[in-house]
Amino acid sequence: MGSEKIDTVELGTGGPRVGVQGLGCMGMSFAYGPTDADEARATLERALELGVTLYDTADLYGNGENEKFLGPFLRDHRDEVVLATKFALAIDPAYPNKRVIRNDPPYIRQAVEGSLRRLGVDTIDLYYMHRRAPSVPIEETVGAMAALVAEGKVKHLGLSEVTASELRAAQGVHPIAAVQSEWSLFSRDVENGVVAAAAELGVGFVPYSPLGRGFLTGSFVHAEKELSSDDFRRQQPRFTGDNAAANAALLEPVRALAAAHDATPGQIALAWVQQRAETHGLSVVPIPGTRSRTRIEENTAATRIRLTGDELALLEPIAGKVAGGRYADMTFTSAGRE
Ligand SMILES: NC(=O)c1ccc[n+]([C@@H]2O[C@H](COP(=O)([O-])OP(=O)(O)OC[C@H]3O[C@@H](n4cnc5c(N)ncnc54)[C@H](OP(=O)(O)O)[C@@H]3O)[C@@H](O)[C@H]2O)c1
Repeated sequence: MGSEKIDTVELGTGGPRVGVQGLGCMGMSFAYGPTDADEARATLERALELGVTLYDTADLYGNGENEKFLGPFLRDHRDEVVLATKFALAIDPAYPNKRVIRNDPPYIRQAVEGSLRRLGVDTIDLYYMHRRAPSVPIEETVGAMAALVAEGKVKHLGLSEVTASELRAAQGVHPIAAVQSEWSLFSRDVENGVVAAAAELGVGFVPYSPLGRGFLTGSFVHAEKELSSDDFRRQQPRFTGDNAAANAALLEPVRALAAAHDATPGQIALAWVQQRAETHGLSVVPIPGTRSRTRIEENTAATRIRLTGDELALLEPIAGKVAGGRYADMTFTSAGRE
């Protein structure tokens, strides 16, 4: 399984050419419990062999640790990798457990210097605003990001968790290569607005958490009972209490299609998001996260699965039945601003 290189695609008009599936690196240092650093590093290498070139991190992940972890790999493969990182989610020094959103130009300048230093690179290929602080006009934020392009610190710009109107306003200041927002069989709110705007503007789409944070693979049901005490998913309403069992039951058609394709439920979830985005006319590069070589082989192999119209129809009702929100605190998302 997974010995063949995946295809490539241009991520947004004028954006970087990358493998049609990227790699989410967050879990290698953050959010999903204990990590084996050697296996994580081997996963980075295996992904590259399989044609994965878009590697996704953020300064938030492990408070800089994830960027530092990627540094040695990047230095070995700088020309082969399209490196994406993000700014905006900062720690309030007065309240270390609280996150604040910073989109103001002085903060962006400070953030990019920190990321370049930790990553050990001269240029970030794709620099995202991770979250939007509505108090700062998007034009001001993107203007500051565009200045980094002019200075050669950044090559392409991206936005995470933005609305259609925010994307349009941003595109008026500088070309945006990609929107990165949550999109999966369980999370389809992007289809209500920003997806159509991205397609119209020629902006690429990078679905994050395309495996529903692992839940769509069937590898866990009750986060509180099955995951380690520091796992972020224990705080997510979909994976806790009565919601967890109700949501697990929604995977029945995913399992049935997996059996029909001699595939896994996770592969069906990945094939779905790829095809769904193509239906909207988008260039799409999902970034499933994994820390294991066998799973990167499984995930990249999903790019070769094609679901029929009847099969897609079977999966269509799932998202509307999901119990619980994407996050416990949705104020950190684009929901409500759309
Ligand atoms: N922009 C944003 O606000 C934002 C938010 C969240 C995430 N992200 C980015 O998106 C990336 C992906 O999202 P995500 O990691 O949250 O969720 P995801 O890709 O939906 O799921 C990742 C989880 O699934 C597990 N997994 C992966 N492949 C598997 C397989 N074949 N079989 C069984 N389990 C498998 C992983 O475990 P193992 O690692 O142990 O394999 C991990 O626990 C992140 O790494 C991050 O770069 C961005």
